[in-house]
Amino acid sequence: MYSNGFIARDLPPKGVSEERFALTEKGIFNSLAFIPPQYAEIDSSEELEAGRLIALIECSACHTMNATGLRPMPVMLARQGFASAEEAAEFLDILSDFSQMPPFIGNEKEEHALGTYLYSITPPGGSDAN
Ligand code: HEC
Repeated sequence: MYSNGFIARDLPPKGVSEERFALTEKGIFNSLAFIPPQYAEIDSSEELEAGRLIALIECSACHTMNATGLRPMPVMLARQGFASAEEAAEFLDILSDFSQMPPFIGNEKEEHALGTYLYSITPPGGSDAN
């Protein structure tokens, strides 16, 4: 199980099965029990808020969303220096290339929403702001 609670592998003795691919197809907002119903379909006016919620679910076990604290997300994002929400969303596809990070899990809309949120908290000036 990843630190964010998603199950990464089948564990037959416990009757547990891998859920990454099912969650990617259905989307996490359509799968997790505690998501407010308005997020079942993310429309563009809700992307920031939906993205922040995804960041809290999938990233906050290891990153704070503020400028200080544990591996602060804005500082991490400055290293990548994204120039657009699309770039930030594309980066999510290679998250697990970093040895300690789990893969991003979610459908395309959720990935875009998280990219939008991450871009919104990326300090201007890329790695200069680090
Ligand atoms: C299991 C812990 C863990 C989780 C969950 C996690 N990360 Fe990380 N992340 C790390 C570690 C460890 C580093 C490396 C920190 C360092 O180099 O100081 C890192 C680094 C980063 C970096 C900087 C990469 C670089 O260029 O050096 C970004 C951006 C990032 N994480 C984004 C995310 C996002 C977005 C999520 C959620 C979708 C996420 N992380 C979830 C542990 C995690």
